[in-house]
Amino acid sequence: MDIRDLTADDLDAVLDLRKRAFGPISASDVATFRKMVNPTLAAGRYLGAFDGGRLAAATRLRPFTQWWHGKPQPMSGIAGVTVSPEDRGRGVGRLIMRATIERAAELGDAVSALYPATTPIYRSLGYEHAGAQHLMSLPAEALRTIRQTKDVKLRRMGPDDAAEVIALLHRVHGAARASGPISYGEDIWRLWLEDEDDFLYLADDGFVIYRWDGPDIEVDTLVAGSVETARALWSLVGTSSSIAKRVKAVVTPDDPVLWLLRERSKETADQVRWMFRVIDLDAAVTRRGYSAAVRGAAVVRVEDPLRAGNAGVWRLEFDGGSGAATRLDTGSQQGEADAPALSANGFSALYAGVPTATLRRGGLMTGDERHDEVLDAAFHARPYMLDYF
Ligand SMILES: CC(C)(COP(=O)(O)OP(=O)(O)OC[C@H]1O[C@@H](n2cnc3c(N)ncnc32)[C@H](O)[C@@H]1OP(=O)(O)O)[C@@H](O)C(=O)NCCC(=O)NCCS
Repeated sequence: MDIRDLTADDLDAVLDLRKRAFGPISASDVATFRKMVNPTLAAGRYLGAFDGGRLAAATRLRPFTQWWHGKPQPMSGIAGVTVSPEDRGRGVGRLIMRATIERAAELGDAVSALYPATTPIYRSLGYEHAGAQHLMSLPAEALRTIRQTKDVKLRRMGPDDAAEVIALLHRVHGAARASGPISYGEDIWRLWLEDEDDFLYLADDGFVIYRWDGPDIEVDTLVAGSVETARALWSLVGTSSSIAKRVKAVVTPDDPVLWLLRERSKETADQVRWMFRVIDLDAAVTRRGYSAAVRGAAVVRVEDPLRAGNAGVWRLEFDGGSGAATRLDTGSQQGEADAPALSANGFSALYAGVPTATLRRGGLMTGDERHDEVLDAAFHARPYMLDYF
């Protein structure tokens, strides 16, 4: 198998692969797909594995921004992992995923995430379960009880608001010290904001994207930076309650709407889990945000057979909201031979806020427990995503 960058000439073969993996694709979805992936081809973000001239597998590295404790950093979102049916179960998936991780590093992304259709392949390459997309379903009537307490100016938005949406996400996720959510680049936001079946409203510190889904309303994204805007946007959705039966909404794990509802007896919650990997430990630790209240240091030993630059003993220091990683010489006194050991999966999960107690009982961390409280305090997070990709 040869692995190389895909070009526009390969897109028909890619679409055939996608159909065999995920089912039929409508003509309008094919058109959107082509618009969406064209820029990624030139950027080295679409890889193919070829058996002679035949495309056997593909992966896409989507250029996202991801916030960790309110601080944005570039992230490779891995999507469209597809192996042709006749090549499955022979190691092709793992082969192209290894090249994909290498490519993410070359592109300068220190972290990566993906929504797994199956766990073992990604886990074997250092990705670990870390966060989720949270889906809430509740009677539409429940939202009608949310009253506006202040007049909030809302206006309809469209593709020309893409830059404003991105700027707003930076303001709101930063102020909320959010962990996990992502943003697309302006080109992709323009595509999302031109869908004529979606209803889009923008406030100074929030926006909502929602649509009909049969007899129900589906809230794709609702972001609000203040209680007034949260009330205004949710009650706007609630005005559909005379027709809509239920509202299905993507929410954050501690979404304020759950505290704005008058009644909370009939909602249900579901999760779509995503996995996460630290690609470049040093850069990832520096680029993450931390609680300014945490000050301390910890030493960890990381095992990462795939990314040699991550392997070794590291001193992690946290101070005033910043973090830094310094490699220590193994064997020296400073190297702390008894430092707690984490696999690549373990370190990735720790970075994403999985508590050390879980990592130890889940077999992802062993050894000295001295630094556990500092690690837990520094990396504390309940990561989520509003977007599925
Ligand atoms: C999932 C997929 C990408 C795996 O590719 P592949 O070439 O068949 O995988 P590999 O042969 O490299 O196997 C890698 C590991 O994944 C495991 N694996 C492969 N397919 C699996 C499946 N359907 N369910 C569970 N595990 C699976 C293999 O057993 C192997 O683990 P092991 O070495 O511990 O046994 C491929 O089957 C595919 O394209 N499926 C349809 C589309 C899809 O689900 N894409 C993933 C989207 S996130």
